[in-house]
Amino acid sequence: MDAIRSTWISSKGIYVKRFEEEFAGLCGARAAIGVCNGTVALHLALLALGARTGDEVLVPSLTYVATANAVRYVGAEPVFVDVERDTWCIDPAQLEESITRRTKGIIAVHLYGHPADMDAINHIAAVHGLWVVEDAAEAHLARYKGRPAGSLASISTFSFYGNKIFTCGEGGAITLDDPHLELRARMLRGQGMDPERQYYFPITGYNFRLTNVACAMLCAQLERSEQIIERRRQIFSLYRDMLTGIPGIGFQPSAVWAEPAPWLFSITVDESEYGCSRDELMNLLAEQGIETRPFFIALHRLPPFREESRRRGERLPVTDHLSTTGMSLPTYTRLKDREIESIAQVIRDSRK
Ligand SMILES: Cc1ncc(COP(=O)(O)O)c(C=O)c1O
Repeated sequence: MDAIRSTWISSKGIYVKRFEEEFAGLCGARAAIGVCNGTVALHLALLALGARTGDEVLVPSLTYVATANAVRYVGAEPVFVDVERDTWCIDPAQLEESITRRTKGIIAVHLYGHPADMDAINHIAAVHGLWVVEDAAEAHLARYKGRPAGSLASISTFSFYGNKIFTCGEGGAITLDDPHLELRARMLRGQGMDPERQYYFPITGYNFRLTNVACAMLCAQLERSEQIIERRRQIFSLYRDMLTGIPGIGFQPSAVWAEPAPWLFSITVDESEYGCSRDELMNLLAEQGIETRPFFIALHRLPPFREESRRRGERLPVTDHLSTTGMSLPTYTRLKDREIESIAQVIRDSRK
């Protein structure tokens, strides 16, 4: 309300700076730059890093389409790598075989809040002279070996879409340490304008800005960040307690070094043990008014990417398996314990 009453409703105003400073602090980064959504955050990261036509970028296939779309926006080609069974994130052991002369970088995605194995990924990147982007759209305040998501790559990206832990409807941010990259990214976000000279545009930029009103909404949530995360952790642990022991229902693994963000509580359904498929279970829950989400369809199977993927001979069995057996359950801060109990009850009763 303060932002609205101040009349600073576009991308100037005190909340933009406040949000950027607070969010950078929480992410253990030197700077944060607010942008209008998480897809734009990825696009801006790739532009700032100089990704361009002819480049190849290694990405997991089990992710939201924005990760690969952003690579295409700069004229580069996403090359798909399988995910690890133990993290559901890009498999560092499989990166090297996908590196070619054209490979310029890696985008690691912290899937459903679980951090990717960033030390291993950064090591391979350093050996081959590649940059790394950390797509932390789904992993607000996750930690990897004690370090926060947002501090683990050349540039990290976030989404504040309505289903995210912190949200302003549509919004995003990048976080980074390098002051040169920061200057370039800030210019690219603001139409390419010279920070020292109004209406002088030395480069072609974009309007990727986030509004003061959106930043005020985010600042308000950051004031309550501990309560928000704590409630979501309770939701996760209640789901775990209630669903443990149901044959065929599996949980998202958590690596010993990971402190995942409690974003979406996700399960896998093994039809041979559970007696019905993931899609059948989703339908049964929908009949009870319970909305769920299937896992992302593997990107290497989608029309914009499948021909190139086939040409490269990509085989991604873990991705294919998870993509067809995984689903996410309702996970939002105001979900009540008794609602979780009744969702778990339907899952228990639906086993055949
Ligand atoms: C892994 C991942 N990357 C990028 C995005 C894109 O963010 P946005 O929807 O804010 O553009 C999302 C989702 O929303 C996501 O889940």
